[in-house]
Amino acid sequence: MKVEQIFTGCLAEMAYFISDNGEAAVIDPLRETEPYIEMAKAEGAKIKWIFLTHFHADFVSGQVDLAKKTGATIVFGPSATAAYDIHEAKDGEMFPVGKINLKLLHTPGHTMESISLLLVDEKGETPYLFSGDALFIGDVGRPDLAVKHGSITESDLAGFLFDSLRNKIMPLPDSTIVYPNHGAGSACGKNMSKETFDTLGNQKKTNYALRADMTKDEFIKEVITGLKAPPQYFPKNAGMNKSVNKSIDDILEQGLTALSPREFKTVAEQDDVLIIDARSKASFTKEFIPGSWFIGIDGSFAPWVGALVTNINQKIIILAPRGREKEVVTRLARVGYDNTMGYLKGGIRSWKAAGFETDAIGSYSGEEALTAFKKGKINLVDVRKESEYFSQHVDKVISFPLDFINKNFSEINSKKEYTLHCASGYRSLIAASIFKANGVKNVSDVRGGFKALKRAGAKLTDYVCPSTML
Ligand SMILES: [Fe+2]
Repeated sequence: MKVEQIFTGCLAEMAYFISDNGEAAVIDPLRETEPYIEMAKAEGAKIKWIFLTHFHADFVSGQVDLAKKTGATIVFGPSATAAYDIHEAKDGEMFPVGKINLKLLHTPGHTMESISLLLVDEKGETPYLFSGDALFIGDVGRPDLAVKHGSITESDLAGFLFDSLRNKIMPLPDSTIVYPNHGAGSACGKNMSKETFDTLGNQKKTNYALRADMTKDEFIKEVITGLKAPPQYFPKNAGMNKSVNKSIDDILEQGLTALSPREFKTVAEQDDVLIIDARSKASFTKEFIPGSWFIGIDGSFAPWVGALVTNINQKIIILAPRGREKEVVTRLARVGYDNTMGYLKGGIRSWKAAGFETDAIGSYSGEEALTAFKKGKINLVDVRKESEYFSQHVDKVISFPLDFINKNFSEINSKKEYTLHCASGYRSLIAASIFKANGVKNVSDVRGGFKALKRAGAKLTDYVCPSTML
């Protein structure tokens, strides 16, 4: 028997590959199909089942492609309906994989069709629980994403989750290893820990949602308190997971079209095309193609694309670090951006060699930014989340979270100079590129972000909780 956890940092997502005696199952695969097919090949196994623990909202799965390529059956929990062939399983149903079984537990709450899968080995023991978004390490799945106006509320769903955890998961042996679908950084929960697995016994001691003496009402209140509005792409991805989408092979074929600088420029000049520059922060700051958005591949690339590019069908052309074009196209497709039209062949060098214009972002050290700010020469803007700003920020700095940049851009005066900072410099550069693309000429960035400003001796303001201000 082999159980493999496949962790994808960008989405804080965990897929699973389980094989035994020539058969395999995949749980919650991402959009691409190759890695799972390769794993099965390496094990000499045939993928028999593809489980989706629920209709994911934070990524698009490639389950239909994978089923076509392997002949596997796609399995969902009770009440799931999709525009493609699925096996709608019953609570308690057994799915044989070689000599072991995966027992499906219906664990509604995060969504109504949510399931967990319990591995039952040859001896009848149950060492592993694949808990989907029912139970995370340190948290549980948020119950507000699958709310149906007029028929089911987040409190109803939180109530179902309480019952699922108490009746289906908590009675399992304390030694059971919990393998969840997400970890810290995912917007599917609010308080997940960095660990990617734990024993159920330890979770009972440390996870607030599994407290033994908790009433259902307390659970509902705690689980729904402090939930932030989900990113705009969540309902779109959930919808795509119920539909048949463009195949990953077609997406890659189109996205990996090499465009000469002249062709790239012609495509870029169309109104409905966006250039995404996925290179490093240093490369972008130095020189970039006017109008392009920086969203570096070495960061939370897919979630930021999802949060900021509001049209999921957006036509995109890319500038990728050399040799990483396929990775960029794949990572866009993981969040449903399937219309990459090609990449710049030869990168920024070929663009310049063709005689085309570039732009640059000004860059301040922490000390330089602070001096200019004190003299009133620059508008210092904090683009971190509101919660980060409230916990501590540079005195008199403006809060303008990157998450809401599209909604709030009208507040920006394009004639002013803005110097942006975040925690370490990734988000501020994304914001700076969007400022530039929207016609703000004087935009600069603080190298090293908030940390550099703190080191330079910035006067800080800590949050004063409104209730204590009375
Ligand atoms: Fe989810």
